[in-house]
Amino acid sequence: MKRNKKRGTLILFILTAICSLCFFKCAPKTEPLLACDCPPGFQLSEENACEARNLYQQYNSLQQSGVGGLKTALPIPRDGFFPQQIDLGRLLFFDPILSKDSTISCASCHNPYKGFADGMAVTIGVGGAIQTRSAPTLWNVAYLNSFFWDGRSQSLEDQMQGPLFSPIEMATTRSQLLQVLNANTTYRKMFLEAFPEQRGDSIQLNQIYTSITAFESTLISLNSRYDQYAHGYAEALTEQEIEGLNIFRSFVARCAECHTPPLFTNQQIAIIGVPEPEGVPFDRGAEIPNNDSTMRGGFKVPTLRNIAKTAPYMHSGSKETLRDAAEFYNLGRGHAVPKDENLILHWHIWEPNLTDDELDRLVDFMNTLTDESFMPKIPKEVPSGLPVNIIAPEMKHKQEGTI
Ligand code: HEC
Ligand code: HEC
Repeated sequence: MKRNKKRGTLILFILTAICSLCFFKCAPKTEPLLACDCPPGFQLSEENACEARNLYQQYNSLQQSGVGGLKTALPIPRDGFFPQQIDLGRLLFFDPILSKDSTISCASCHNPYKGFADGMAVTIGVGGAIQTRSAPTLWNVAYLNSFFWDGRSQSLEDQMQGPLFSPIEMATTRSQLLQVLNANTTYRKMFLEAFPEQRGDSIQLNQIYTSITAFESTLISLNSRYDQYAHGYAEALTEQEIEGLNIFRSFVARCAECHTPPLFTNQQIAIIGVPEPEGVPFDRGAEIPNNDSTMRGGFKVPTLRNIAKTAPYMHSGSKETLRDAAEFYNLGRGHAVPKDENLILHWHIWEPNLTDDELDRLVDFMNTLTDESFMPKIPKEVPSGLPVNIIAPEMKHKQEGTI
C-alpha cells in the first residue's frame, strides 16, 4: 500500500513537471497575448520558427520534372517567422489604426472573403481616393520575388510601405504609425512578445514590417483540386477539367508558358496589350519603374491561384469574368492596343484560334485552382478597439435581410 502511494506521488510529481514545462515553453511569465503555435501548413522548429511544409517539397527542381510539369518544385518561400510575429501581423493587417484616419486596413482592399482582393476594378483609399490599378490577391505571396503589377518592389517589407504611406491609400506617416502603436499598451506588450530580443525599447518600424510580412507569408493555397490531381489523385479533376488543363498547357494556347505551374506565374514581366476600361488613360506599367521604353505596357504575370474569387480581372479590372479574360488571348495579337502605341508584345501572345468549347474548358480548369483551406482566423476585435469591418458574405446577407 505504502509503496503504491509513494509511486503515485512520484507519477503525479513527474506529470506536474511535464505539464509545467509545456506551459513555460509557451508563456514564461504571463499569459501569452499571441499564438505560440504555427498556422496550418507550417511546422514549429526548435528555434520557435514556423517552417513551410507542403507536398511540392518532395519534387527536387524545376528542371528534373520539366518546367511547368505537374510534379514541379515551388520557389523557396519566405518562412521561418515566430508564431507570435505571424499572429501579431494578422492583427495589424486587419487593424484600421494603420491608416491616417483609422478608416481602412490592409484587409479593406485585400479582403479574405474576396480572395484577398476587393472585388472592384480599381481600389479606393482613404477619403474615397480612387486608384488606377486593381488589388491583387495575396494568396501565395510568400513565393513571389517581385511585387505590384509592374514588379517595382522586391520584398514584402518594402512593398507594404507603398500603401501605408501613399496619400491616396492608407495615407499614414512613419511617425504617426509609430506614435499610435506605441500609445497602445496592448500592442506594446504584443511587440515585446513577438520580438523578445529587443526588450525594453519602443515599437520599431522594421518590427511592424516583419510582423505583417510574417502573416502574409502564411497565406498558402496549395491544396486545390488541381494540386490533388498533380500529386497523383486522378479523380480530383473531371474529364472536362483535364481537357482544360491540357489546353492550358498546350503550345496552342500557351497559357502555362507564362502562368507556369505550380505557382501559375513565371514571375516575369510580359507585355500582352490588355486594354484599359473606357475613358481610362493608357497605363505604361513596367516602363515607369525601369525607365525603359521597351517595357512599356508590361505587367507582372499574375498567379491564377484562387482566380475564381478575384473578379474583375487584369491590372485595371477591365475583364469582368474568367471567360472574358480567356477570350482576350483569342482575339488576335495586339487587337486592343491603342492606335498610337507601339508595344513590343510578348512572343507567346498570338492567335491560338481556340473554339468556344475550348475557351469554356479553360475556364473550367481555372475554376479548379481554388483552395482556401488555410484561411486565417479573421479577428473579431483588434487591439485598437476600432471596428474590423470584414464581414463574411453569409453574415452580410443576413444583415441586409436577404436571407
Ligand atoms: C486602398 C487599397 C489598398 C490597401 C489599403 C492596401 N493595398 Fe495592397 N495593393 C493594392 C493595390 C491596388 C495593389 C496593386 C498596386 C500596383 O500594382 O501598383 C496592391 C498590391 C499589394 C501587394 C503586391 C501583390 C503582388 O502580387 O504583387 C501586396 C503584397 C499588398 N498589396 C499588401 C498590402 C498590405 C500588407 C497592406 C497593408 C499594409 C495593403 N496591401 C494595403 C491596394 C491596397
Ligand atoms: C505572354 C505571357 C502570357 C500568356 C501566354 C498568357 N498570359 Fe494571362 N496574363 C499575363 C499577364 C502579363 C497578365 C496581366 C496583364 C494585365 O493586367 O494587363 C495576365 C492576366 C491573366 C488573367 C487575369 C489575372 C488577374 O488576376 O487579373 C487571367 C485569368 C489570365 N491571364 C489567363 C490566361 C490564359 C487562360 C492564358 C492562355 C489562353 C493566358 N493567360 C496566357 C501573361 C500571359
